[in-house]
Amino acid sequence: MDILFVASEIAPMVKVTGLADVVASLSKALRLLGHKVTLALPRYPGIEASGVMIARRLTPLVLTIGGERVEVTVFDGRLGSGVELVLFDVPGLFAEGPSRLADEDEGDLAAARRYGVFALSVVELVRQRALAGTPFEVVHAHDWPSALVPYLLRDREGDARPASVLTIHDLARQGLFPREALRLIGLGDEHFQPSLLEFYGKVSFLKAGLLAADAITTVSPTYAREILTPEHGERLDGVLATRAKEHEIVGIVNGIDYAVYNPMTDPALPARYDAEDTTNKARCKSALLAELGLPIDIERPLVVSVGRISPQKGGDLLATALPKILKSDACVVVAGAGDRAILTKIEAAVAKAPERARLLGDAAEPLVHRLFAAADIVVVPSRYEPCGLVQLYAQRYGALPVAYRTGGLLDTIVDCDAALETGTGFLYDKPTSTSLLGAVQRALAAMTSPRWPGLRRRVMRLDLGWDRPARRYVHVYRSAITKRTA
Ligand code: GLC
Repeated sequence: MDILFVASEIAPMVKVTGLADVVASLSKALRLLGHKVTLALPRYPGIEASGVMIARRLTPLVLTIGGERVEVTVFDGRLGSGVELVLFDVPGLFAEGPSRLADEDEGDLAAARRYGVFALSVVELVRQRALAGTPFEVVHAHDWPSALVPYLLRDREGDARPASVLTIHDLARQGLFPREALRLIGLGDEHFQPSLLEFYGKVSFLKAGLLAADAITTVSPTYAREILTPEHGERLDGVLATRAKEHEIVGIVNGIDYAVYNPMTDPALPARYDAEDTTNKARCKSALLAELGLPIDIERPLVVSVGRISPQKGGDLLATALPKILKSDACVVVAGAGDRAILTKIEAAVAKAPERARLLGDAAEPLVHRLFAAADIVVVPSRYEPCGLVQLYAQRYGALPVAYRTGGLLDTIVDCDAALETGTGFLYDKPTSTSLLGAVQRALAAMTSPRWPGLRRRVMRLDLGWDRPARRYVHVYRSAITKRTA
């Protein structure tokens, strides 16, 4: 199959959210299944800085946006995985790089222009490939920055277009802009309708994409159900429920890239291990404790939390629970940046137990790998989580995750106390610090029980790779193609 991926992030070069990991590793897994994959991205400076070779095309794409002629320079490249890259550049548009991809972009007309021009460029690429007799069969877009692509494809190309698939990695980010955004993308007022781009008086890139895509997927079965409810639907539950009646919204749990996350080969670790022999995990733990100036005591539990510090990610719940967790003799390491008020609270808790707690700020990837390898318990306190990757990385490295029973966390963790024979972590029932604390305490208690080494081996043996999920995506592509041509 000839597949075009459209995204705004790719790990490790341009990473703001977990979407970046999925784009890099799913595209690679599809290649491994024998498909041709092209990945369209804005030309962020980080991509060349990482050493990927790209070559500029002699002929630019020429777009007409509201009567204005816009030249888009196109660069071609190839990732080590064999995935082809097509990067689009317009002076000044993408130079700022990934820092501006996140939620704070919303409402910013410059972001509407940026991702509008990006989407128009992708549509032009699709058209040119079709004219050249080598059409893409399916276009797979991810989250709001590329959600205009399915919309514009349907609007412009009518029936002569590839099938489109839109994956929701986080419904809360929607690409909402004031009505003037339409003009910046060269779209007339006729697009400002509830059945098209209009959403509660604004322009919504995500809604437009959800209405237009031939198939919608999201990153776990539980989240696929949750987003149909007012509680998690972010006001799009009605739109999604309508779409779900025509064509199932499929939830596919993300995989992880075993070439990058593998304690047996990971170059970031001081010693390697696997499920058959975990001895070296203790070496990784003592090295990390030494690195952070914590007491080098292998028996003492090491509780780790990695990721953005925000209310969505439950940073406040962890901050409140932290002093109580530190009443045990555990060491706690929190790595992440974000919400100032929450960080201040975490700092205060850490300052009260300086000999056993650390707040590291945003940690570089190699340190994150060492943290997983050293950890016994990894806390993922998110209030909602479409899939979540941290718990998967934790399991892969032999740490037991503690998480709230929501979204992808529920789909990837079986509670060890509820199911002794199959447990793979600890789940709690309410998004509160008390409930979180209870689960951390259960995990700490389990660590002192004879079943712990078995639990550790069990989570390391889980099949968390991309092979299975990538095959499910291929299935979704095929059904989208069938639906398009029916
Ligand atoms: C978003 C979601 C996260 C998911 C990731 C990759 O970052 O918040 O749950 O794992 O996308 O799909």
